Amino acid sequence: MNWASRVPMTEIPNLVRAATAAGVWGPHTRAALFHDLDRLDDHLSLLQGAFPADTLHGVAIKANPLVEVLRVLVEGGAGLEAASFEEVQLALAAGCPPDRLIFDGPAKTDAELAEALALGLWVNADSEGELARLAALGAPGRARIGLRVNPGVGAGRIGMTSTVGRSSKFGVPLVVAPYLIEQYPFISGLHVHTGSQGCGLELLSAAARATAEVAVELGLSWLDVGGGLPVRYTDQDPEPPTVGQWAEALRETAAWGELTLLTELGRSLHAGCGWALSRIEFVKELNGEPLITCHLGADLLLRRVYASQDWDHELAVLDPQGNPRLGEPRPTSVGGPLCFAGDLIARGRPLPPARPGDLLLIRDVGAYTLSMWSRHCSRALPPTYGHRGQNLTLLHPGERPEDVVRFWSR
Ligand SMILES: Cc1ncc(COP(=O)(O)O)c(C=O)c1O
Repeated sequence: MNWASRVPMTEIPNLVRAATAAGVWGPHTRAALFHDLDRLDDHLSLLQGAFPADTLHGVAIKANPLVEVLRVLVEGGAGLEAASFEEVQLALAAGCPPDRLIFDGPAKTDAELAEALALGLWVNADSEGELARLAALGAPGRARIGLRVNPGVGAGRIGMTSTVGRSSKFGVPLVVAPYLIEQYPFISGLHVHTGSQGCGLELLSAAARATAEVAVELGLSWLDVGGGLPVRYTDQDPEPPTVGQWAEALRETAAWGELTLLTELGRSLHAGCGWALSRIEFVKELNGEPLITCHLGADLLLRRVYASQDWDHELAVLDPQGNPRLGEPRPTSVGGPLCFAGDLIARGRPLPPARPGDLLLIRDVGAYTLSMWSRHCSRALPPTYGHRGQNLTLLHPGERPEDVVRFWSR
C-alpha cells in the first residue's frame, strides 16, 4: 500500500454491503464513520521503515482520539503525542507505555506537569514559564524534558495551521534556546512542529534543519520534528510527499547526527483511512439546483464549513445498496443537519441526482473530524466501525439521545 493512501471508491460498495449484512447500517441509520485498520497498519509500517529503528513515532492523538484506534497504533509499536492531559489519559487507556508518550500543549497546569514527571513522559515545554514550573517541581525526575522552539522560517499555505511563522503562538524563538538551556540544564531535546497540511517538504525540512543545528551544537540528545506531512483530499490536489521523501529530506538537510528522533504525524496516517456515510434525508430545489439534506455537516466537518477555502472532501451519491448513482451530474449543494444557513459541506458540486434514502459518501474523514465534533444543535455523535478486509468491529458506539441529555445535565 502507498503512503497516505485513501480507501478507494471501488471498495465502498462491498464495504456498504458488509456493513448492511453485519447490521451496522440499515434504513434507519442516520450516519456512521468507518476506519480502515489494515490501511492504518500499513501506513505505520511505512513510517517505521523510513526512519532509524530507534525513532519514537508519537502519533498525534488530536487527529483521531478513539481509544481503539490508538490501541491499534500502540500494538503496532507506535507511541502517541498528547496535546492535553486528557489525551495523556486516552493514551494510557490505549495501553501506551509512558516512555512512548509525548506530552505537548501550551497550557499545562502544575498538577499535570507533576503527574507527567512522575509517569516519566516526554514533556515538551512551550514557554519559559513552563520551564520554571518544571524546575520547581524537581524536573526532570523520570521524564525527558524538551523545549518547543519556533525557528521562524515562514508559514505554510494555511495560516490557521501554520506554526513556524513569526506570529505563531507556540514555543520560544529558536535564538532564545541556548539561553534557556543554560538556565534549565534538565532540557535534553528540542521540539519543532511546522504546521498541519499546507506545508511542503522544503518548509518542513527548513524548520527541522534550523532546530537540529542548535540541538547538535548544544549537545542535546534528541530532536522531535513534529508532524505536518500533507495529504490529498481531492484528485485535484497536488501529489503529497511520501514519508520516505520526508525522511530523506530530513536526512539530507537536518543532519541530526547522534540525536534520537521523535515524530508526531497524525493526518497523513489517518485521513485516508476514514470514510463516512450519511443517509440522504431530503432533496429539494434551491435556485434551480438540487439541495441535499444529510446528517453530517459542520458538526463533523468543522473546518470544511467554517474555512471552506482551505478544506474540502470528495463526495459521492450511492444508492441504498452502496452502488454509485450514475445519472447526469448537476451542480448540487449539500447541507448538514444544523440550524444555521452556513451549514453546507458543498455548493454547486457536480453530483448525480439523489433521492431520499440514498447514501452520501464523504471521503478522507479519518483525521480532525470526530476529534473536532461540534455540539451545536446537540446532535448525537455517530458510531465508528473499524474494518479489516470486510470484517467490521465497533470502535465507538456513538451516542444515543439519552447520552446527549446526560452530557448537558448537571
Ligand atoms: C504539536 C503537534 N504535533 C503534531 C501534530 C500533527 O500534525 P499532522 O496531523 O498534520 O501530522 C500537530 C497538529 O496540529 C501538532 O500541533
